[in-house]
Amino acid sequence: TPPTITLNSGTTIPQLGLGVWQATNDETERAVRYAIDEAGYRHIDTAAAYGNEEGVGRALAASPVPREDIFVTTKLWNSDQGYEPALKAFDTSLKKLGTEYVDLYLIHWPLQDRERILRTWDALEKIAESGRAKAVGVCNFEPHHLQVLVDRGGLLPAVDQVELHPHLPQQGIRRFASEHGIAVESWSPLGGTSNSGWGPNSKPNTLLVDPIVTRIADRHSKSAAQVLIRWHLQNGLIVIPKSVHEQRISQNIDVFDFELDELDLSELDTLDDGTRVGAHPDEMNIGAPA
Ligand code: A2P
Repeated sequence: TPPTITLNSGTTIPQLGLGVWQATNDETERAVRYAIDEAGYRHIDTAAAYGNEEGVGRALAASPVPREDIFVTTKLWNSDQGYEPALKAFDTSLKKLGTEYVDLYLIHWPLQDRERILRTWDALEKIAESGRAKAVGVCNFEPHHLQVLVDRGGLLPAVDQVELHPHLPQQGIRRFASEHGIAVESWSPLGGTSNSGWGPNSKPNTLLVDPIVTRIADRHSKSAAQVLIRWHLQNGLIVIPKSVHEQRISQNIDVFDFELDELDLSELDTLDDGTRVGAHPDEMNIGAPA
């Protein structure tokens, strides 16, 4: 089973989890069932905006593994930012997930409105106090967004989940987060979907076929995906590769029988070219309340 990381909330998170972005409810239910019951995953990462919380909920309800052994993350969508809307959206997510609590509740995007971020964070702090989220955090926050919460005082995010992979290692965010006891989670850890990018500055995935990555993979008789997942783990990051295919779900957790050496890690570090597959947080305002 994957190692855990202790969050500033005092709770622990399995360092490797299953992402389910772009999967339907039925695909999600199947993938999560397989991941938990067959492959040994204990951490599932969904979001209200993915439209598949019910699929996650059905899998949790059907699994013989007890709820308290599974770490469940969901996220607050942009249109629900603000104090009352966030409280209401959280209730809706719990209902869809069919659970009394989530392990982690995240603000999905920072949006451009600092005042609204603060009101939303007030709601998440209240949710954390109620125990219905064991930890709360943010996604896609740049250091300047995190600074708003640091300046506010009070509860700090347990995690910042950002696009992160060897093309975009996010050293600035990692430095800021580590100085403030915030764990960093990598989304699109394999470099995103292979068909196309979706953000304004985005490019299609090239990491899984990158010659540096595949050469290291050959050296270890592992796949490119497994090499990339090790890079995240060995960099102390929480990693949530997405797949709806059983063989890949199994492969992505079968990464605890090998280790990248210093040379592998430094070769992978040369891939840093700042390329994103998703939107830049400062340009993302989809669904923002008026
Ligand atoms: P699929 O769900 O069809 O398996 P990321 O986690 O970086 O967003 O990347 C996920 C993308 O990579 C998805 O398109 C997923 O597709 C694919 N993928 C996930 N695991 C693997 C793997 N082990 N080998 C190749 N492709 C993978």
